[in-house]
Amino acid sequence: MAMGKLEKKFPEAYEICRQFELDEGAMRKIVQAMTNEIYMGLAKQTHSTASIKCFQTCVQDFPTGNERGRYLALDLGGSNFRVLLANLISAKEIDVISKTYAISKAIMEGPGIKLFDFLAESIAQFCKEHKIENDNLPLGFTFSFPCKHIGIDQGILVTWTKGFKSEGVVNKNVVEMLREAISRRGDLKVDIVAILNDTTGTLMSCAFQKQNCKIGMILGTGTNACYVEKTSNVEMFPAYQTSTKPHMIINCEWGAFGENGELDFVRTSYDKAVDRESLYPTKQVFEKCISGKYMGELVRHILVELMDKGVLFKDATSQILREREKFDTRFLSEIESDKPGQVRNACKVMDELGVRGTSEEDLLCLRHICQTISTRSAKLAACGLVSLIKKTKVKDIAVGIDGSVYCFHPHYHRLLMENMKLLLKDSAKFKLNLSKDGSGRGAALTAAVYTRRPPSPPKALSTEKQSSSCPKALSTEKQSSSCPLKASAPASMPTVRRFIQKVVWTFRHF
Ligand code: GLC
Repeated sequence: MAMGKLEKKFPEAYEICRQFELDEGAMRKIVQAMTNEIYMGLAKQTHSTASIKCFQTCVQDFPTGNERGRYLALDLGGSNFRVLLANLISAKEIDVISKTYAISKAIMEGPGIKLFDFLAESIAQFCKEHKIENDNLPLGFTFSFPCKHIGIDQGILVTWTKGFKSEGVVNKNVVEMLREAISRRGDLKVDIVAILNDTTGTLMSCAFQKQNCKIGMILGTGTNACYVEKTSNVEMFPAYQTSTKPHMIINCEWGAFGENGELDFVRTSYDKAVDRESLYPTKQVFEKCISGKYMGELVRHILVELMDKGVLFKDATSQILREREKFDTRFLSEIESDKPGQVRNACKVMDELGVRGTSEEDLLCLRHICQTISTRSAKLAACGLVSLIKKTKVKDIAVGIDGSVYCFHPHYHRLLMENMKLLLKDSAKFKLNLSKDGSGRGAALTAAVYTRRPPSPPKALSTEKQSSSCPKALSTEKQSSSCPLKASAPASMPTVRRFIQKVVWTFRHF
């Protein structure tokens, strides 16, 4: 069906979608406002009122590509908790074994001590399965929430975001809480050397291979970015004038942008409805416009309004769409994967939801709504990235990106590229790199960079079959990078070469 015809059939839907359009002028205004907030976040005098807080991360060292050995990594930030064992084999190859543990709503919203006991229990199970519970391996903890870092292994939770509400954790040192939970058990030895945000992990993981990677971005359940700043500009860092390290990663926490009203000129009544129904009304305004936790909800609110008007989905089964969070963001990716003019995936989505009796036109209209929300999301994310590229002043820059929206949406990468090019013109060259599993690999790499002792020599990861004794474990994966230059397993490495490597590491780490 031609687009003009669809618009004639659904004028109300098109009218609503027009409210989400962002022209170049609006985008430039947003870049300017984000830039202002970034400067305010960095400066001591204005930090407290800035919506983009620009937290210091204490990460001042970067991977050289020579990091080797076995490290543990934890990844907490969504509805799953992951434990990983990473073996840094070569500059191109990281072997990873990981296991995912589902976090129940009761744990996400219950007492903090229960959350940390759950984390410790999952780590212990994982380590026992791989017989490393007494190895005291260096561990990097990706904790994807706003944190005040007072050291590389010290982070104080500022506020929960996304679906978490666990009591008694805000304003506490989360590394200490984890250490206490581990020692309460008494059956596990790990050495927590770093706590980091998932954006930092993504940047570190991309920087392992690309020296010009200066920005990390997440577009998944939540959204955020970090970038490499001159230490002398990080006024909230006590040693900003004296530090011998010239750079530090800044965790922007850009999801909160808009909390000072900066996005009021683009927010629609649907954005406000999503905000009102969220766990933290008035907070994380930018995140609520663009990230995976909320994109589906925005589409759902539009659909409900069109159903109220009697425009769309007239069958009684469509009432299911009135249920909160019923329309998952992954549906946008699926629906927009259909070839133009086709509705095969859209049909499947409706089947999955149990909505019957939809016409082809209904589904094409649904696709238009999904595209509208994804396009605005990508445009806003492009504004954020452009503000950071301009702030770094790097003329040829790589950006590491991870997160379910960026990974699975069929057009997100293209939309980001197009809009960033539009805004940057020729002022800087950039590459957007998928930094797959940046949070996990990045945590291991950060642990490697900050480890206070020589890491354990590389050893082939145990390839034993995973026991299924843990009811909470969702999946176990063994992955290695898809690099064609895959090195042979280090276990078969000649002893002499291994010995030389060990000496070199020891030398480098003392
Ligand atoms: C939320 C968190 C932030 C994280 C982002 C992506 O915005 O506050 O720390 O980086 O989600 O997971």
